[in-house]
Amino acid sequence: MSTPNSHFAPLARLLHWLMALMIIAMLFIGAGLAASVSERHEWLLNLHKPLGIAILLLVIVRLFVRFTTRQPSLPADMASVQVLAAKLSHLLLYALMFALPVVGWAMISAAGDPVMLSSSLQLPAILPANPGTFAFLRKAHTYLAYLMFLTVLLHLAAALFHGWVRRDGVLESMVRGKD
Ligand code: HEM
Ligand code: HEM
Repeated sequence: MSTPNSHFAPLARLLHWLMALMIIAMLFIGAGLAASVSERHEWLLNLHKPLGIAILLLVIVRLFVRFTTRQPSLPADMASVQVLAAKLSHLLLYALMFALPVVGWAMISAAGDPVMLSSSLQLPAILPANPGTFAFLRKAHTYLAYLMFLTVLLHLAAALFHGWVRRDGVLESMVRGKD
């Protein structure tokens, strides 16, 4: 099997794994939000909002790092349809890392509620209060989260297929390496 010619930059790898943990946590916190009421719901929401906004800030840093560092190439023996699937799924993951927090922020704004990240830190509203817009964005946040869950599962399966079945160095390129 041919191997990719380098590794992701250390900062790109750090951001990848840090954000992977944060996003997986967010998906479960979101599921917990949907399934709970009372004090626990409030507690989870107070965790969900700042963590989501941190993801939004980190994805901006991550895109900057991506376009200013060298990317390893995929193995030359991968079918072009697989290469296309890898590229499209990465694009989708970046789009969702950006869209989910923005939609979350926008939906609280559209609800007319203050967008509080802590008891003293408030974000400005990014949309005027409007019940119709809120209803649309509330649904959009749920469906985008489902799509993220699904894409992350496929991404995980593909990464393990590279690491355990093809053993072609793609998983390694995100796990370790000096360059
Ligand atoms: C990567 C970022 C995010 C992910 C993966 C995510 C995921 C989720 C999920 C899975 C749910 C449950 C869906 C449902 O109830 O149908 C949810 C609900 C919610 N999210 Fe997010 N979210 C993110 C960012 C944000 C941000 C930045 C905010 C606000 C600043 C936000 C605000 C909310 C609110 C208000 C709810 C509804 C809570 C309730 O049931 O009362 N989310 N989110
Ligand atoms: C929420 C979870 C995750 C997200 C949002 C995510 C996102 C991404 C993105 C956007 C890329 C493309 C990097 C680039 O070319 O700019 C990537 C690459 C990669 N990820 Fe993840 N990832 C997640 C979890 C995981 C997990 C759990 C694994 C392994 C078990 C993994 C393994 C990899 C590998 C091996 C690559 C390199 C693929 C390549 O060179 O084409 N990721 N990830």
